[in-house]
Amino acid sequence: MKKIKLISHPLVQHYLSVMRDKKTPQAEFKESLDRISYILAAESFSSLKLVNKSVNTPFKKIEGKKINETIVLLPILRAGLGLTKGFTDLYPEIITSHIGIYRDEKSLKPVQYYFRFPKIQNKKDATVIILDPMIATGGSVIFTIEYLLNMGIRKIKVVSLLCAPEGIEAIEKRFGKNEKKYIEITSCSLDEKLNEKGYIIPGLGDAGDRIFGT
Ligand code: PRP
Ligand code: URA
Repeated sequence: MKKIKLISHPLVQHYLSVMRDKKTPQAEFKESLDRISYILAAESFSSLKLVNKSVNTPFKKIEGKKINETIVLLPILRAGLGLTKGFTDLYPEIITSHIGIYRDEKSLKPVQYYFRFPKIQNKKDATVIILDPMIATGGSVIFTIEYLLNMGIRKIKVVSLLCAPEGIEAIEKRFGKNEKKYIEITSCSLDEKLNEKGYIIPGLGDAGDRIFGT
């Protein structure tokens, strides 16, 4: 795993501050996340493989390009759903898979309740983009990465909004040098710390509750 990549785009920082504000209502919170998701998607898609494809413009035939990679989007339910919009709007051909995980409130350990993944031929060449707005203890992301590595997936991008140093450290510790080669983490902010209840500080509160108004 190369060092975590932080996105400092002014629009990301602007909308992230809107989301952090405890007074921001649900609709504005979700709209801000949608806008950020486009920038995260553009960044995540920037390394996709292309092949040549001939195109007839109104004037002549040229050598154009097309994406030549199987891409699977894997939001971690629920809050990961909040990051999907930019990805599916920018590249509607993306396959969306789902994993359902919640954190046990006491132990903070991940509990899996759902998994649906497409049948794909070229597992080792496919890129899987895990979406999880909050990397707190890192438990949910670690669980998901382990699952994918065991399935033979070798290109894993983790896309988040906020992360805590404790979570990044846990991911670093959990995976060996060989496995880390397959993992890339992108986030909009590395926050200060976790509090005693496992919330990211300063953070933005409970992402799932604020996205879905629960
Ligand atoms: C939240 C969040 C992450 C997870 C991060 O999920 O959406 O998936 O916690 O914490 P971790 O890094 O300590 O595992 P939550 O359990 O609140 O479920 P939800 O998405 O359904 O709200
Ligand atoms: N999950 C959240 O939604 N927020 C946090 O701060 C930590 C985990």
